[in-house]
Amino acid sequence: MNDHIAPEIAAYYTRGEEDGRLRTGRNRLEFWRTQDVLRRHLPPPPARILDIGGGSGVHAEWLAADGYQVELVDPVPLHVRQAAAIPGVTAREGDARDLGAEPGAYDVALLLGPLYHLRDRADRVRALAEAARAVRPGGVVAAATISRFAALHDMVKKGQYARPEIRAIVLGAAGDGGFDGRPDMGFTTAYFHDADEIVGEFEAAGLPGARRFGVEGAFWLMDDVNAWLDEPEMRRLLLDALRRVELEPTLLGVSGHLVTIASRSGQVGEAGTPGA
Ligand SMILES: C[S@@+](CC[C@H](N)C(=O)[O-])C[C@H]1O[C@@H](n2cnc3c(N)ncnc32)[C@H](O)[C@@H]1O
Repeated sequence: MNDHIAPEIAAYYTRGEEDGRLRTGRNRLEFWRTQDVLRRHLPPPPARILDIGGGSGVHAEWLAADGYQVELVDPVPLHVRQAAAIPGVTAREGDARDLGAEPGAYDVALLLGPLYHLRDRADRVRALAEAARAVRPGGVVAAATISRFAALHDMVKKGQYARPEIRAIVLGAAGDGGFDGRPDMGFTTAYFHDADEIVGEFEAAGLPGARRFGVEGAFWLMDDVNAWLDEPEMRRLLLDALRRVELEPTLLGVSGHLVTIASRSGQVGEAGTPGA
C-alpha cells in the first residue's frame, strides 16, 4: 500500500519497467533531449540537485557522473531501492506535494515526472511551490510535462485509434487533460498539459518568467526515428535540429513532452546563469 499515489499508479511503476524505458528505442530521444536542455541550464557541478519523482534514477545517474550531488525522492519503494544503488545518489521515499526538504538547501529541483500524475491543478502548483521552496534564491526549478495531444498522436501512430475504447480515452485526454490510461496503452492514470498552462502553474507557485522547451518536437512520431538515434552523426544532427526549434511556440503542442525552467527569482539564462 502506497499512501502517496493512487494504487494503479503504484502498480504500474512496481512492474519495474521504468528503469529501461528511456534507455532503449525511440524513448532515447526524450532522454537525450532532456539531458541536453538540462545541461545548458544547470549551475556547474558540484551543485546540490533534488530529483523529485526521479524514478529509478535514469537522470540521477548521469547527473551524479557529471559531478552533482543528487538526492532523489520518489513514492515507489522499488524506484528508491534502484536509485539508492547508483554511486553518488541518495534516495528516499516521499511525495512531491510534501517534500519535507530543508528550505533553500538545494541549487536545483527537478520534477521530471510527478506533474504527469497530479490531476488537480492545486496539487501541481503545490508540487512546484515545494520545489521552489527547496531551492536557494536564484536556484533552478525544471519540470517535465506530457503534452495534451501525446496519447492521441501515439495511438493513431500505433494504429490503435480505430478501437472505440481507446478512442474515448485519448479524446477525453485531448479535451481536458485527464488521461484514464491503461498499461496496454503504455501508461497509467495521468494528466496531460495544454502547452500554455504550465507557465501559469509556475507563476502560481511563485516562479515567474518560466521558459518552455519542446523536448522531441514532431520527431518522436517518425517511423524511422530509431535509425536516426542509432547512428552517432545522424543523432547529432537530429538533436541539433531540435535545439534550433525547441522554443518555437507553434511546435510545442506536438512535442511529446515539454521541459519548463525557471529560477526562484525569475527567468533563467543558459549555462547556469539564472536571471541572465
Ligand atoms: C514517468 S516516471 C519518470 C521518472 C524519471 N524522473 C524520468 O524522467 O525518467 C514518473 C515518476 O514520478 C513519480 N511520481 C508519481 N507521483 C508522484 C508524486 N506525487 N510525488 C513524487 N513523485 C511521483 C513516479 O513514481 C515515477 O517514478
